[in-house]
Amino acid sequence: MDVRLQNAGDLMVKPTRILVTGGAGYIGSHTVLALGEAGYEVLTYDNLSTGNRWAVLSGEFVEGDLADADQFRRTIKSFRPEAVIHFAASIEVSESLLNPLKYYLNNTVNLVKNVDVLMSENVNKMIFSSTAAVYGVPEKIPLDETSPTLPINPYGASKMMSERVLHDTAFTNDDFSCISLRYFNVAGADPDGRIGQIYRNPTHLITRAVKTAKGEYERLQIYGTDYPTPDGTCIRDYIHVTDIARAHILALEHLLKGGPSDTLNCGYGRGSSVREVVDAVKRVSGVDFPVEETGRRAGDPPELVAESSLIRKRLGWEPQHDDLDFIVWTALEWEEKLESGVHGPGI
Ligand code: UFG
Repeated sequence: MDVRLQNAGDLMVKPTRILVTGGAGYIGSHTVLALGEAGYEVLTYDNLSTGNRWAVLSGEFVEGDLADADQFRRTIKSFRPEAVIHFAASIEVSESLLNPLKYYLNNTVNLVKNVDVLMSENVNKMIFSSTAAVYGVPEKIPLDETSPTLPINPYGASKMMSERVLHDTAFTNDDFSCISLRYFNVAGADPDGRIGQIYRNPTHLITRAVKTAKGEYERLQIYGTDYPTPDGTCIRDYIHVTDIARAHILALEHLLKGGPSDTLNCGYGRGSSVREVVDAVKRVSGVDFPVEETGRRAGDPPELVAESSLIRKRLGWEPQHDDLDFIVWTALEWEEKLESGVHGPGI
């Protein structure tokens, strides 16, 4: 926070301004909420292609596209943020295999335009949403930040390229600093039930399993049971969305205090198989929904589990919700809220 002396004896606290691209999306909206609660002044810049205006529960909102560099510049000029948190991106692995250019344009080209505007407007701090998908098929588990980045789908490749753009920008500009957070499998919803996963055609396992438990889908498909894992299904490191939001606040504080650029895994360091997730959803919901075992989905690495000691050490991050049943419970509660229609039709 800026603390400025207005009149003698009169302390004025001016909130730090943070611009959030993609703040109407799933992780973005939870982070916007956390920023507001932490006392930041927030502006969300989002084109609402997948996000929802009602999910932005703190600060101002501008409907805008990152492809429109002029509008982005005007927004930066008028809001004058001290840092940008960049969520806006296309995020579906399977879609990226069908339409790679969409991913390189939305995720990489727009990021380059975005950083170019920020540099010329003297906005020098950024938190970037990266992904475990940059690692591809790991040689060893858990994955630490020095593991090779060999993505096996355009989604992961587009994020890896963006990381590189940011790294090179920080390397050549002493004023510019950036933290790239490599998310593992983000799931669950705000424990107070204010927001949650909000995609119209969700592809994520926990969301689909929860919707199946609620009767929205007839059955849940397990994509592949012949992976080289103990029960034959893929293993992922599921992390609660509120813990991810908190990691962004800590990363921001780190940069605002003048801390150096970094690339950090965001996971708990513990994996669950698809079958274990299905069991958890059945257990927590009390519904024994039908499950169908099908072939593998293209682009899925067998196992992604984070080595998470670096983020704990560098940012002092302490997860609050490292519990698969709790993650599932919050997702189920959110699903019930959606069913009750509080957010209107179309969701
Ligand atoms: N799965 C099923 N049935 C479903 C949905 C998913 O069996 O109906 C399986 C997938 O095949 C995969 C696992 O559940 O093995 C997890 O799949 P998700 O779609 O939930 O998540 P992904 O691991 O594919 O991807 C997510 C994010 C990416 C990120 C990655 C990092 O969407 O952005 O986690 O771990 F890169």
